[in-house]
Amino acid sequence: MRPFVYLSVLLLSTLGALAHHGTGEEWPAQQFETGTWTPPYLMVGKLGEVNPGNIFINVRNALEDGGTAPTIYDNDGEMIWQGVQRKTMDFKMQKLFGKDVITYWDGETGVLGYGYGSVHVLDASYKEIYTVTLQDNFVTPDGKKRDTYVDVHEHLITPKGTMIVSAINITQVDTSMRPEGHPGTWIIDCLFYEVDIKTNEILFSWAATENQDILPLGASKFPMWGSGFSQESPWDCYHMNSIQYANHGYVVSIRYYWYALYLHHDGTKRWILSGGNRDEGDIPNDAHFAWQHDIRVYNETDDSMVLTAFNNDVLNEGPPSESTGVAINVDLKNMTGVTFRQANSHFSDPSFARTQGSFQLLDYNTTGHMLMSYGSTCKWKEYNGDGKVVMTGQFGYVGHAQAYRTFKFPWHAIPHYPPTGVAKRISEYTTDVLVYMSWNGCTEHDNWNIYSVPTAHSTIEDGTLLHNHAKKGFETHADLRDPNTKHLIVEALQGTKSLGVSRVVEIPPISQDTETPDDEWKA
Ligand SMILES: *[C@@H]1O[C@H](CO)[C@@H](O)[C@H](O)[C@H]1NC(C)=O
Ligand SMILES: *[C@@H]1O[C@H](CO)[C@@H](O)[C@H](O)[C@H]1NC(C)=O
Ligand SMILES: *[C@@H]1O[C@H](CO)[C@@H](O)[C@H](O)[C@H]1NC(C)=O
Ligand SMILES: *[C@@H]1O[C@H](CO)[C@@H](O)[C@H](O)[C@H]1NC(C)=O
Repeated sequence: MRPFVYLSVLLLSTLGALAHHGTGEEWPAQQFETGTWTPPYLMVGKLGEVNPGNIFINVRNALEDGGTAPTIYDNDGEMIWQGVQRKTMDFKMQKLFGKDVITYWDGETGVLGYGYGSVHVLDASYKEIYTVTLQDNFVTPDGKKRDTYVDVHEHLITPKGTMIVSAINITQVDTSMRPEGHPGTWIIDCLFYEVDIKTNEILFSWAATENQDILPLGASKFPMWGSGFSQESPWDCYHMNSIQYANHGYVVSIRYYWYALYLHHDGTKRWILSGGNRDEGDIPNDAHFAWQHDIRVYNETDDSMVLTAFNNDVLNEGPPSESTGVAINVDLKNMTGVTFRQANSHFSDPSFARTQGSFQLLDYNTTGHMLMSYGSTCKWKEYNGDGKVVMTGQFGYVGHAQAYRTFKFPWHAIPHYPPTGVAKRISEYTTDVLVYMSWNGCTEHDNWNIYSVPTAHSTIEDGTLLHNHAKKGFETHADLRDPNTKHLIVEALQGTKSLGVSRVVEIPPISQDTETPDDEWKA
């Protein structure tokens, strides 16, 4: 009867999984024995040489207004780390005081496409070392106060160890200069702040409404569509969605003007590069971008720089065109901008982002690879320097899941908490045990040791090595057929070097029930 018991256990767990994910709506999520993480399966395809590194995603479920846990996957789509289950966005690796850290935003989403929250900074052992919050005299759409007002769109650490964050304020302006305008229009003012990461002290702030000479309200390309008559339904005229530090100050993406706006440190204008009309802005260019996201700066000198943007042209009237990544050589001596590199997805799978999206140059001095993340379309693509797709990733059904930004970083971490081991009997009547091992967030181990230890209070020094197993994905499992072992310790290693040791793992006892499975089947 025993083989039949195995089979039915297997069958039941398979049916359980189907019942859980069988709605047809839900993209399958991974499940583990060693913890409660439920990352969506990341489907990856490799079509060429890919850059090393790990994929950083905050999966957002389109059916809810929020995000889920920040999650890191490796280049094969295996989970490496999952953080807290909160509404999080803009998960990335940055440098703080010379060290790699990971950062993400969390808080209240769904505030007219913006949010109110704080930024978490974790070190390479996943300890939260700083939490950045923002307070000022903000007015909110519902008139209620919040504890902290950092918006979802940007949080960026500068080389000085400060952080730039975005924020919104609800205020009233006169829009009579527009055909559809009127005095007293409620609008979403877009602001950014530079704050001290250690103290949260505000060092600098800039508000679009205070700079109407730079951003005249008549130049917004975003229609009012009947908004602006109440505090709850303000007109979103600017939509500031990225702020990049630069040698002379800040480069700000004003999405609804199609502007890359370079501000001096004191907040005055240096120049504007417009993705729209050639005659708009200060730098004539052959670049075209619209409704853009994620403007970044590379290789900046006083005379030139490379400016990149995620081009969301798809929102324009007419048939949707795909979202592209553009890299523009900005020549400040000759005052020209020339597009020299583009990431266009393959015609066989054109990808659009209705909202959100990011464009990252990977290792930009060597391979020239680029990572495009398609925001509201739950896909990302890695391109090589010639603009060919070399890797694709998908983490949900299109129209269901999304991610504000997706990145690839060379992240290395060893957690401050120990690895986890779990032992389960294949059935409660047999001596065969499965041992599961994982270490949420560790990027450095490649094999596992399993030790038998005499008591629940033993240490690894009292142990007898039973098995060694190569690491296999996030969670490695091993068969154990040793009826005498009651307690285990698992150890994560890199080669022969020990990186971490679990707490003592109890092996569940064999059932003393007199009723056997055979009796159950007879009943
Ligand atoms: C927000 O707008 C209100 C007017 O609606 C204004 O009094 C307040 O100073 C603004 N806050 C900030 C931080 O700009
Ligand atoms: C300006 O344009 C000229 C002529 O095309 C070119 O030779 C020169 O290198 C450009 N200047 C810079 C700083 O790139
Ligand atoms: C930055 O400059 C380096 C050195 O000249 C060059 O190899 C690299 O391609 C440049 N990066 C970009 C993004 O243009
Ligand atoms: C790339 O090259 C530029 C120009 O030589 C240099 O300033 C920059 O530090 C390099 N960046 C990286 C990431 O190696």
